[in-house]
Amino acid sequence: MVNCKSVYEPREDSTMLETWARKHAFGAVLDIGTGSGILAIAAAQGRNVKNVVATDVQKGVVDYCEKCIQNKKIKFLQSDLFQNVRGRFDTIIFNPPYLPQELKLKDLTIEGGKKGYEIIERFLNEVNNFLKADGIILMVFSSLTKKEKVVGFIANNLLEFEFLEKQHYFFEDLYVYLVKKSAILKKLERYNIKNVKYFSKGKRGLLFTGVCDTKKVAIKIKNPKSNAVGRIENEAKYLKLLNKNNIGPKLLFFDKDFLIYDFVEGDFILNFIKKESINKKIIKKIIKNVFSQLFVMDGLGINKEEMSHPPKHIIISKKNKKPVLIDFERSHYTLKPSNVTQFCDFLVSGNILKLFKNKNIEIRKDKIIELAKIYKNNINKNNLNIKDLNNIGYSLE
Ligand SMILES: C[S@@+](CC[C@H](N)C(=O)[O-])C[C@H]1O[C@@H](n2cnc3c(N)ncnc32)[C@H](O)[C@@H]1O
Repeated sequence: MVNCKSVYEPREDSTMLETWARKHAFGAVLDIGTGSGILAIAAAQGRNVKNVVATDVQKGVVDYCEKCIQNKKIKFLQSDLFQNVRGRFDTIIFNPPYLPQELKLKDLTIEGGKKGYEIIERFLNEVNNFLKADGIILMVFSSLTKKEKVVGFIANNLLEFEFLEKQHYFFEDLYVYLVKKSAILKKLERYNIKNVKYFSKGKRGLLFTGVCDTKKVAIKIKNPKSNAVGRIENEAKYLKLLNKNNIGPKLLFFDKDFLIYDFVEGDFILNFIKKESINKKIIKKIIKNVFSQLFVMDGLGINKEEMSHPPKHIIISKKNKKPVLIDFERSHYTLKPSNVTQFCDFLVSGNILKLFKNKNIEIRKDKIIELAKIYKNNINKNNLNIKDLNNIGYSLE
């Protein structure tokens, strides 16, 4: 006996999306959360539609559709979002459960999680691997789902949207969006980068992660809110050069819109030092290693510009506990490089002195300042020798 108790009876959201599905659906179509099958049927009637895979998380719904809908173009499948779905589609249609559980409606067909947007977030985080490069997503959601959240999830996955329609019903507004892959995402996919996910935001760049073959990579894209020009190209230029000296994460590819480098798994330097298991010996080794990289940069006449406040610019690699400098977007050539002296300034700042003291390391502030001054006044390639390095290293006791 087919249980059709929880088949969603088409409502306003269904009919709004139905109109757009008739208009835009093409090629191979995936209808997620098909319910009564209304959207799958509408899509299948389109002349440009080849076939439709219609899914629902509820087995009873799939059984109901298989029994009641006879359409050669439509195949029904039980699946929690993309779990059992294979292949890529030209059109993906989704009328998700989007209401917050806080409303206590206790209905799986309409509740999208505690806040309402959780299923949409999961959907948008996975959809790229199932959508063809020029494919489209048609989706509907409510003002109760929090529009800014949905827009954020779209951007975080390097997708972009076109607003198609808004309708007001009783206590909510309903929106229909057409979502597509952005030009940058399509380009990244041509480079064989998959699973692109938002990671973090800087002043000038947005960082995403992705997978290239089996390797995790970092993808830096210009922050659209930044007015800075040419930063991506600049960082690529210096990273390429510094990689030859084993400085910075390994640059893999770049173009005018993004640069891709090996993702460095690890902790930012201060978070690493604060860990209980990290002792004086390890810390001294790390600081010396940072200095050795900065000496090389000074020797090359390249200023990184971030070294007086580097907590977010040095990652201690989980693999070998080596410090990896990141973010070279402001790097430039200069006659007076100040990487070493800036890092000395950082080491003698109040909270760093305190942090090191907790680890039984005494930073000899006077000694560092004196050495930094001597170094600054004599800076040239000849005096960049191991003695200087050791001197500064030894001022940590
Ligand atoms: C709002 S109804 C939409 C039904 C139909 N597409 C329509 O427009 O009338 C949401 C549907 O999504 C299904 N659903 C809920 N969570 C799902 C999930 N994680 N994966 C697939 N379908 C899901 C529900 O069973 C329900 O049938």
